[in-house]
Amino acid sequence: MIDLEGKVALVSGGARGQGACEARLFAELGARVVIGDVLESEGETVAGEIGAAAVSCRLDVTSGEDWEGAIATAVDRFGRLDVLVNNAGIAPDGAFLQDTPEELFMKVVAVNQMGVFLGMKHVFEPMQASGGGSIINISSTAGFRGVNRAIPYAATKWAVRGMTKTAAIEYGPHGIRVNSVHPGVIDTAMVGWERLDERARHAVVGSLPIARIGTATEVARMVAFLASDASAYSTGGEFLVDGGSLAGQPLFRDTELGKR
Ligand SMILES: NC(=O)c1ccc[n+]([C@@H]2O[C@H](COP(=O)([O-])OP(=O)(O)OC[C@H]3O[C@@H](n4cnc5c(N)ncnc54)[C@H](O)[C@@H]3O)[C@@H](O)[C@H]2O)c1
Repeated sequence: MIDLEGKVALVSGGARGQGACEARLFAELGARVVIGDVLESEGETVAGEIGAAAVSCRLDVTSGEDWEGAIATAVDRFGRLDVLVNNAGIAPDGAFLQDTPEELFMKVVAVNQMGVFLGMKHVFEPMQASGGGSIINISSTAGFRGVNRAIPYAATKWAVRGMTKTAAIEYGPHGIRVNSVHPGVIDTAMVGWERLDERARHAVVGSLPIARIGTATEVARMVAFLASDASAYSTGGEFLVDGGSLAGQPLFRDTELGKR
């Protein structure tokens, strides 16, 4: 059902983690992919592994010039641009709100928020030229609730939700759909799951309806669905890949009553 044959996609932050997984899956489903990242040699490695259907380029999502270059790479190499995955993001080590420096706050805003804005801004014309397209913005479950020790991260992931809906309204009449994806805790370098002991792991996922960490492949499948025409009537939507974490906490947790 998910077919990306003939589509050309640009994945920001595609050199590792979820972005690399999305690039690989997209190519398997028939797309050609541009991997844009500040990690240039990692990006080249992923593109090399995929083969002729992929190319990598330098893309710092905070730079409008870099966006122009990445889009030119897509159009020069593959002739068009149909899909943008605004996946690049940073999650610096957390600090209490009062201890969070302004510079750090603005750095996270630049990558996670302005990066998404710039991506959506720059792909409009090439997508229109392709007859429409699909933009998938990677937010987080942190875009739905507060997260202690993560004020800039939570702020920017809420912002991605708002920008997604605004862009969906403006771009819809031009045939461009815009949706957000909200992963829960996913096993990538950003989380460092392997560094956590059993107690910490239980604290993170123990009370989820699906009580385990998610995989990059599980997110990539949702993103591929939104990139494809199978999701043709969805725009401005929020798509969770979170093991049910936003469903809520069980009542009477860790008591006899809570067991069933
Ligand atoms: N891992 C999780 O638990 C989780 C949960 C919710 C949301 N997310 C979001 O998913 C997305 C992907 O994260 P991941 O888990 O794969 O982490 P990751 O750290 O493995 O990958 C992030 C990628 O973004 C790239 N990047 C960072 N700054 C950039 C910039 N200025 N320009 C271009 N690329 C840049 C990095 O080089 C890296 O390749 C992020 O937006 C993240 O906030 C992750």
